[in-house]
Amino acid sequence: MSIPQNEELENHDEASSNSPSPSPEQPQPLSSPIKMAMQRGRGPSYRSASGYQTLAPLGGGSFGQVYSAVHLHSGAPVAIKFEDTTHQNGKTELLPYEHAIYQVLRGCTGIPNVYWFGKEGRTNMLVMELLGPTLETLRYFCRGTLSLKSVLMLADQLISTLESIHSRGILCRDIKPENLAMGRGPKSHLVYFFDFGLGRLYKDVITGEHIPYREGYEPIGAPRYCSQAAFLGYEQGRKDDLESLAFVLIWLHKGHMPWTSLLAPNIPAKLKIMGEMKDTDKLAEICKGCPDEFLTYLRYCRELEFADAPDYEMLRGLFRGVMQREGWVCDGVYDWCPGSDSEKGTLLPERFVW
Ligand SMILES: Nc1ncnc2c1ncn2[C@@H]1O[C@H](COP(=O)(O)OP(=O)(O)O)[C@@H](O)[C@H]1O
Ligand SMILES: [Mg+2]
Repeated sequence: MSIPQNEELENHDEASSNSPSPSPEQPQPLSSPIKMAMQRGRGPSYRSASGYQTLAPLGGGSFGQVYSAVHLHSGAPVAIKFEDTTHQNGKTELLPYEHAIYQVLRGCTGIPNVYWFGKEGRTNMLVMELLGPTLETLRYFCRGTLSLKSVLMLADQLISTLESIHSRGILCRDIKPENLAMGRGPKSHLVYFFDFGLGRLYKDVITGEHIPYREGYEPIGAPRYCSQAAFLGYEQGRKDDLESLAFVLIWLHKGHMPWTSLLAPNIPAKLKIMGEMKDTDKLAEICKGCPDEFLTYLRYCRELEFADAPDYEMLRGLFRGVMQREGWVCDGVYDWCPGSDSEKGTLLPERFVW
């Protein structure tokens, strides 16, 4: 990724910016977090024409880099996802597409707010709500597994948010613990879906008609967590997002799946074995060590037809039933929270206390 340089920004096309740009000649007063970040020298420092100053890298992957940043005028912390379009060579830019999905999802609980989207130099920038650590980070720092209570509390919220996402005609198609994160501050008990780079509309916005079933796609989504249908290259529906959410929940609770540490001579062979391990008659093996409701949930997903509307309420009810049976209340005290009765404790380093 190349972040545009300040010289480049002097020729910046104002049309792409809809917020006042700080003049390069008049340095803006620095807020203390920026000073601190600069003193530590973490990450490339970039002051955007749209009024944001990057602080530190948060992550990156398939098509860009994400940085924490601060809005220079308000001091509000944000996250910025950058996509370099220099070497696009006719390939579609993904960030405008992801932004369009966020617009459709605007206002849903459990979806980060988007504050600004535009192009600076040759780089697309999506400025959004800064979230806390991802569920994968939290699992890691909670010694590899999350307690059943934490997983059930997350499951309840995640199913509801997925229901809202689906109700707006969107499929995620890339549900994984790295794409789910906790909120910050007063929202630190909320879990968020983000990264809609693989999202798509599954119904016509005007007619409401469901997309037709097709086969022969390249598998879409992370092999560890995607549904078996996605694995086999079938067109995905709402049931596939739900199935993949179940794999994520089981992974968070157990810290392993039958396909973890799989040995195979090459990647295609490994993928073939993984696909077979997701067969319907192997679901009990996948759910071993979890309450029976996880198996009921997964079997229900497998029974749904491609375009069927799932019964989200019933699925939430399954997990609420387990909570009730165990005598737990949904108090938002997760394993990583102070006061949690998690026996093993957590190893959360201070920089992850958000
Ligand atoms: N809004 C955000 N707040 C905090 N961290 C974020 C945010 N968005 C992304 N990240 C971090 O950056 C990583 C990569 O972002 P993501 O949108 O998933 O990009 P990619 O499409 O490359 O996977 C995430 O796994 C997460 O650690
Ligand atoms: Mg991602």
